[in-house]
Amino acid sequence: MGLVGATLLAMSFSATSQHAFNNADKAVEYRQKALSIMQNNFAVMGDMVKGDIEFDGVIFAERATDFAALSAIPWIGFSQPGAQPGNNTDALPAIWDNWDDFVERAEQFQNDAKALQEAAAAGDQGDIRKAFMAAARNCKGCHDQYKD
Ligand code: HEC
Repeated sequence: MGLVGATLLAMSFSATSQHAFNNADKAVEYRQKALSIMQNNFAVMGDMVKGDIEFDGVIFAERATDFAALSAIPWIGFSQPGAQPGNNTDALPAIWDNWDDFVERAEQFQNDAKALQEAAAAGDQGDIRKAFMAAARNCKGCHDQYKD
């Protein structure tokens, strides 16, 4: 085994203990499920913002709180070695070619999700709408670059 092989092996050992994923497939499954539950919360808020269902400030604030918490969850599932694109994922290789940008987007997204949670707790519908739209722009921005 050369130096590169030894380094990769060391990386995968430390990542396994650090992230508690057994393998890349588990990491892909983990991030997809996290994104999916996050989307469930976002969709309810979207229906209220669009007026498809009646606005309920209490329910909105609950969804916004869960959404903000969930906005932090998926990203660790992208950093497991070997969790790069395969048949089981829509993640594009560009993520790992532009890792710093991807991480920055994920952080900005969490900030905007937190701002939405705060607006929802404060209860002003105009502010809530603006914060929702700001959060929504993160989805499209990142998907356009990094999702198939
Ligand atoms: C920082 C980048 C980024 C942001 C921000 C982001 N996504 Fe994604 N999303 C991805 C990537 C990459 C995938 C593909 C993951 C995969 O298939 O492994 C994805 C996949 C998904 C999926 C499919 C999950 C599945 O079951 O396969 C849903 C749903 C989703 N995103 C919803 C959202 C919503 C809603 C938002 C905003 C509120 C959002 N995402 C914000 C990068 C992002």
